[in-house]
Amino acid sequence: MLVSAKEMLDKAKAGHYAVGQFNINNLEWTKSILLTAEELQSPVILGVSEGAGKYMTGFETVAAMVKAMDKELGITVPVALHLDHGSYEGCYKCVKAGFTSIMFDGSHYPIEENVAKTTELVKVAHAMGMSIEAEVGSIGGEEDGVVGAGECADPNECKAVADLGVDMLAAGIGNIHGKYPENWQGLSFDTLDAIQQQTGAMPLVLHGGTGIPADMIKKAISLGVAKINVNTECQLAFQEATRKYIEAGKDLEGKGFDPRKLLAPGAEAIKDMVKEKMELFGSVGKA
Ligand code: G3H
Ligand code: ZN
Repeated sequence: MLVSAKEMLDKAKAGHYAVGQFNINNLEWTKSILLTAEELQSPVILGVSEGAGKYMTGFETVAAMVKAMDKELGITVPVALHLDHGSYEGCYKCVKAGFTSIMFDGSHYPIEENVAKTTELVKVAHAMGMSIEAEVGSIGGEEDGVVGAGECADPNECKAVADLGVDMLAAGIGNIHGKYPENWQGLSFDTLDAIQQQTGAMPLVLHGGTGIPADMIKKAISLGVAKINVNTECQLAFQEATRKYIEAGKDLEGKGFDPRKLLAPGAEAIKDMVKEKMELFGSVGKA
């Protein structure tokens, strides 16, 4: 059931658990995530970066695929189709394409411009019944061409952006996209605590979910994080399972080269990864 992310995240924040955002790249990815959410009766957010949207030929193709798949698989749990790290232009494209949620990543603009553009997009998204995420501070590392310096968010700026009426707020708290380096200092819980105190009931978003230790995830949830984004970890799981299949020569046996067989171990690996994360985030049975 395709819905905006607002209700599921408000419930998650109040219930002290988090909903996973898993990024999609193709049909297999989408199907694995939807089936796992249904099996575990968990709400879920399908994240689409601008790069992945282009890869899948465009946001309209993505929206049409997700809507049809949601229907044909008989998915009953709440599913949000969300633009991840959207540009100003990308947000408008997803509104038109029929997404149910957008993220406007205005973190690279001066705060005044971020505020002005976010204000406008909040009005547009809400008029369409969509939810909207904004970002303050920046997430370190790189995701699909979006590069962040990784500076921690200022809690007062977080309050200013939360007051614009966004439905969820991503704040940089030392989190990084991709694999965490050996010398990573960990999440700044002092910053998160200060942000939560300033923003009250606002569901907070933790980007860069790949590789964050379980105890930090749980602490972040206890301090107001209600949405956690995971991308790289699913890619790594898919890659590892596919590699094993090929290295074992299974693609050479019988009809093992058939893409439906070749891609099956990777699709199963994504299901396992999504299941593990939903259990960790506490969203199982919360549909
Ligand atoms: O926006 C998506 C994410 O923040 C995912 O980050 O690739 O480090 O899991 P990740
Ligand atoms: Zn991100």
